[in-house]
Amino acid sequence: TIRAVARGCGHYLPARVVENAEFAKTLDTSDEWIRTRTGIERRHFAAEGESTSDLAIAAARAALADGGLTGADIDAVVLATATPDNTFPSTAVKVQTAIGMTGGFAFDIQAVCAGFVFALAQADALLRSGAAKRILVIGAETFSRILDFTDRATCVLFGDGAGALILEAEEQPGGPGDRGLLATDLHSDGRYAGLLYVDGGPSTTGTAGVVRMSGQEVFKHAVIKLAETGTAALARAGLTRADVDWLVPHQANLRIMTMTAHKLGVPMERVVVTVQDHGNTSAASIPLALSVANSEGRIARGDVVLMEAIGGGLAWGAAVLRW
Ligand code: ACO
Repeated sequence: TIRAVARGCGHYLPARVVENAEFAKTLDTSDEWIRTRTGIERRHFAAEGESTSDLAIAAARAALADGGLTGADIDAVVLATATPDNTFPSTAVKVQTAIGMTGGFAFDIQAVCAGFVFALAQADALLRSGAAKRILVIGAETFSRILDFTDRATCVLFGDGAGALILEAEEQPGGPGDRGLLATDLHSDGRYAGLLYVDGGPSTTGTAGVVRMSGQEVFKHAVIKLAETGTAALARAGLTRADVDWLVPHQANLRIMTMTAHKLGVPMERVVVTVQDHGNTSAASIPLALSVANSEGRIARGDVVLMEAIGGGLAWGAAVLRW
């Protein structure tokens, strides 16, 4: 069986760190409120002139270095973002050029906070079909560019950053003990589009727009749907909750992560949590968390990593990867 096996990961965070207290200078909010409701303590914001592709390229280079590879070894770039540099071309082709890839192909995926999981599923299909041998899967965002800084209920939640994971086609015996992606589970339901969206776009307002969200409603869907998709992906992989070594959830809110982990039966010491330092970086949050945990030496070869995410769409899903 051909599996998409992890071959290196990396991340990049812009230099500027914004502490919760900074928001309290201009808004009726507090570090205490943000911390207790979300778990967020700080986030990174891109500098003026620093774009999503800049973050993505830095994360891609870190992943290549981690895998001992160069751009010439990669034959596809699949990049998840809701904050592309431009409406087109894709942000992925900018990465392709920057890492010195002149062959293969590159494209973006748009599933907002669930984008990285959707990108993993795409990469898995491309590798297993033989369309590519080694894929750079990236989540990269500059959400600071689409925030309404007068809306305290949304602007305190998000941050900028990028993470990258290289997946390589490798023959494995076939079964739940294989290394690589063992299962993915994807969903969306456009009936909930109004709960979380950006109020602009090229074909409607001609502006980039800003994030609008019904936080409590999203929260309720998140806890139910994340536990469901995580359970479904594990079953499809032929594994159970007891097999999970690491839960790497989308980093939106510590309370969502805690409740989901509880429903999935994964103890909190097995959950990778970076939301306190990154905020919600949308499609970048899972590969960022994965790369941070990996760089700290927490994830060992053979470990089962369960990833899950939900966001605008609503779109949600999970992936099971044996490291
Ligand atoms: N500081 C102070 N008060 C605030 C702030 C703030 N930053 N934001 C909202 N409030 C106020 C509200 O105005 C409201 O005041 P009111 O009662 O006078 O009207 C009060 O706090 C309670 O607001 P709620 O929305 O009920 O607060 P809640 O406990 O639900 O927390 C939050 C809000 C953190 C947004 C929560 O609903 C949440 O995390 N939802 C999930 C949404 C999410 O994470 N989305 C990210 C994208 S999707 C995803 O990645 C999962």
